[in-house]
Amino acid sequence: MNKDLPSTQADRPNIITTEIDAIKFYRKMDTEATVVEMIAGRYVIVEEYYSNGLQVLAELKKNLLQVYTDKSFQGQRDYRNAYREASHRLLVKIEENKIVVKKCPDIGWLEVLYPDVSEFYISFPEVQGMNSSWQWYEKGIEVKTLNLMLKPYYGTYFPTRFDHLKLFDKWLKKYEGSKENAIEIGVGSGVLSFQLIQNGFNNIFATDTNKNAIIGVAEEIKRLDYEDKLTLNHGDLFENCDVKADVVLFNPPWLLAKHKLEEGIDKAMYYEADLFPRFFEQAIEHLAPEGKVVLIFSNLAQVIDEENPHPIIEELRNHNRFRKELHLKRDVRASSRRTKRRDNRDTEKVELWVLSPKEK
Ligand SMILES: C[S@@+](CC[C@H](N)C(=O)[O-])C[C@H]1O[C@@H](n2cnc3c(N)ncnc32)[C@H](O)[C@@H]1O
Repeated sequence: MNKDLPSTQADRPNIITTEIDAIKFYRKMDTEATVVEMIAGRYVIVEEYYSNGLQVLAELKKNLLQVYTDKSFQGQRDYRNAYREASHRLLVKIEENKIVVKKCPDIGWLEVLYPDVSEFYISFPEVQGMNSSWQWYEKGIEVKTLNLMLKPYYGTYFPTRFDHLKLFDKWLKKYEGSKENAIEIGVGSGVLSFQLIQNGFNNIFATDTNKNAIIGVAEEIKRLDYEDKLTLNHGDLFENCDVKADVVLFNPPWLLAKHKLEEGIDKAMYYEADLFPRFFEQAIEHLAPEGKVVLIFSNLAQVIDEENPHPIIEELRNHNRFRKELHLKRDVRASSRRTKRRDNRDTEKVELWVLSPKEK
């Protein structure tokens, strides 16, 4: 039974459905001049070949790098904002839910995400993002711990390395408590809930603030025949959840946001300062008498800067709610997009925390 699924429409990139005043860009045109117009606010439509779009974006990058020479954090952020703004004025035409220029990728999301409209303009960078997401979805991600392929939906966080899954598997294999009810906060692509199911948990209530994650996992549980084990809910933390669980599981975002968070994948990587206090406050209300909170985390924030807070350690230190039952760690070997900013790759570890409520 699935409670509060978002009705139909997934979150998707904005599109333009009216005719627009724009420069049509062909291969033999002056790319430099086109980019100058684009920076000044004109729309540009990619004509002829898909690679013409790549050519314009390369020129845009070159142009902006000559202007934004400040290498400071703020300077780099200004460059990225300028690139983002101008590059979204580069458009591609879609007809019958397909890109119309030659030698372009075939992107199924253009049909899946836009069932209500078949002709429109969409920005070239959004098409690039959709293309990469479609390839992951089509190919699937092999998860050896589960012996299955994940098919991550557009705009959903999915694992690209698997140390934390191995750590969780190790804990699950030793777990001897009740397996009647579990809650997973932040289900993402579904991977941890699937681990719970494969290890004998009966009822899982899984939630996420990202609508596309919920739509994607709804598809996955049909494909994998897990529908009778998992209830999905689109909402914040324990919203709409009246279960008392043996295990409350959360693999939260790992970095404290220093910017205003956008909906969707941003909230998979970054958290707002009140996320953990709110989580712990609500988690304790959703535990069965012998229940445990299991958190997958990382010391990544401290690897970037020792002064960064560790929200689980802060909870244990500042509140009298939970006691630490277990803290497992595992080295992270492969690199990932989450770790691009690391200075010292050798010290990063994934962590598994098991907390029990303190007796009152
Ligand atoms: C790091 S991802 C983990 C996804 C998946 N469980 C996994 O292990 O691959 C964190 C997930 O938590 C979700 N999330 C962030 N804040 C949330 C909140 N307040 N309530 C519910 N889910 C949230 C994000 O949308 C994202 O899907």
